[in-house]
Amino acid sequence: MIRNILLDCDPGIDDVLAILFALNEPEINLLGISIVAGNARVDDGVRNALSVLELIDREDIPVVQGASQPFSGRLITSALVHGENGLANIQLPRPRMSPVSMNSSDFLNEKLNEFSGDVDLVATGPLTNVARLLKKHPDSLRHVNRLIIMGGAIDVPGNITPFAEYNFFADVIAADACIRTEVPTILVPLDVTTSFLFTSKDLQEVLGKKTKINNFIERLIKFYIGFERRFYHLDGCFLHDPLAIAAASDVSLFETKAEKLHVNTVHPLTRGALFRRKSVVKTIDTCFRVKKDVFLKRFKKSLMNY
Ligand code: RIB
Ligand code: CA
Repeated sequence: MIRNILLDCDPGIDDVLAILFALNEPEINLLGISIVAGNARVDDGVRNALSVLELIDREDIPVVQGASQPFSGRLITSALVHGENGLANIQLPRPRMSPVSMNSSDFLNEKLNEFSGDVDLVATGPLTNVARLLKKHPDSLRHVNRLIIMGGAIDVPGNITPFAEYNFFADVIAADACIRTEVPTILVPLDVTTSFLFTSKDLQEVLGKKTKINNFIERLIKFYIGFERRFYHLDGCFLHDPLAIAAASDVSLFETKAEKLHVNTVHPLTRGALFRRKSVVKTIDTCFRVKKDVFLKRFKKSLMNY
């Protein structure tokens, strides 16, 4: 079944890998990309998305600029993980393309109305753009088939604090607003995204002929693995955002549980942490395990097809 998706992201290395995966995953039709400040400043994120789309000759995919700051607090970027420019400090040619000259809320709302009921909204960055869409166009999410969010950490430690995952921590007010929506929601938390590594060996299997794109993918992933090796002595990286694309493409790859979840927006120590709470009405299909080998085969195939 072909899934129409809109991707809201903060490119960011694994967001770029999610874009590359989505554009070569047969079951995915990527309608557009909105950029949110997160791993990198929003202007860097826009430039990164445009330059990667040009690198792979996919200038047909519209990119729109979204929020430059979270709803509350200050922007915390992740240069150590993703590079100062959000693209492993790789300098691709300045993009010829420009972003769509609309704000992200109006762009997303327009696309959701056009594809009403037959489109998933996939969010792999801080949820500021999705929360702003909700605020400006309260009825917009009525047109969303599924809201698929990469974020949160439930039974595993966080990655920005011991309790909180980065996307939720970066904008707790937005995260809280999004998980409360009526939209059928699939959550892809650290519980599943940190259950395996994409290793240097996996990378070697992907790199075939020496092409511009292969060289880019190699440099991007080696930088990403370099962070994990330097700080956590791991020989691999986590494919957080590509797993959100996999959930959109084929959620049967995952073991999910219907969870009643609450984001802490108050206590400074556990700000952004995700807790189970019986009194919450909405249940969220939460991914806890994935068929790793099946996913990796599809992910690698998508990269090898560039
Ligand atoms: O915690 C992992 C998430 O935060 C990923 O989406 C990564 O790109 C960063 O945005
Ligand atoms: Ca991301």
